[in-house]
Amino acid sequence: MNIMGVFVVLTFVIFGVSSTGAPTLTRTYTCEISDDKTTRGSLQILYDGEDFIRLNLSTGTWTAANLQAEQFLKAWEHAERNAKYWTNYLKSGCIEWLKQYLTYSNNVNQGSHTLQYLTVVSSLNATTTGQVDGEIFVSYSSSDAEVIPKTEWIKQIYVDVPDYWQSEKSRISGDHGDLQHHLRDVEKIQKTKGEGSGPGAGSGPGAGAGPGAGSEKVLIFIIIFVVVFSVGVVFFALIAFCLQKKCSTITRCQDFESVPDIMWHSEEK
Ligand SMILES: *[C@@H]1O[C@H](CO)[C@@H](O)[C@H](O)[C@H]1NC(C)=O
Ligand SMILES: *[C@@H]1O[C@H](CO)[C@@H](O)[C@H](O)[C@H]1NC(C)=O
Repeated sequence: MNIMGVFVVLTFVIFGVSSTGAPTLTRTYTCEISDDKTTRGSLQILYDGEDFIRLNLSTGTWTAANLQAEQFLKAWEHAERNAKYWTNYLKSGCIEWLKQYLTYSNNVNQGSHTLQYLTVVSSLNATTTGQVDGEIFVSYSSSDAEVIPKTEWIKQIYVDVPDYWQSEKSRISGDHGDLQHHLRDVEKIQKTKGEGSGPGAGSGPGAGAGPGAGSEKVLIFIIIFVVVFSVGVVFFALIAFCLQKKCSTITRCQDFESVPDIMWHSEEK
């Protein structure tokens, strides 16, 4: 195999592996029934662990946490409709499910109760967990592509809601698709920010990771280069050595001149 080929492949592998600290979107939504039967809800999305957008339930609109989030909302065609959908869902559908889950789990504790779903997506994978009062009762990861029951009580839901698992599966995987689509849009905005804005561009979240990660890559690159280069030198030295040895033991170098042209060519092949 060609040495340059090895070099390129090695570089590709190492750069590929070191860049799997892929950016993520994390979405958390919660609905809550308080002791006095009033309800509350919230939904927020983080980009790479930093506040990005959140839903304002009193207005039914999104609030952006920074400039990139504002750009994202502007570019998002269905932002308004989506905000209305979630506002409505957190005030009604989510509360209905919470009541059902409390019934299934025989949770008759006084006080407030919450239903929460946490979803983390990267370009490579996605996971969702559902919790009632902090107890995980279902999970879903894109690698299994199934909703997994995590408590005994949720398994009983079959009896009353036979298509629960199937409809949860399509709801969550559809959700993952949407969030991964959003992630790509956010990435595009992040990229143009990096190219465009000159000084001060380093102030955003995640900017700190740049220089450190960059110099690490350069170092890895140099190490690979040195290793491959050394291997190459040794390889050629070995070939040169063998040729010379062959020439001194078999033919004696002086005899080369007397070897007919035709033999010389066939030996080279
Ligand atoms: C998903 O990918 C991220 C990196 O993008 C990784 O940290 C995480 O462990 C992965 N999760 C699963 C369940 O594979
Ligand atoms: C929602 O928006 C209203 C009106 O702009 C504002 O007064 C309120 O503080 C916002 N609520 C949250 C939780 O941000």
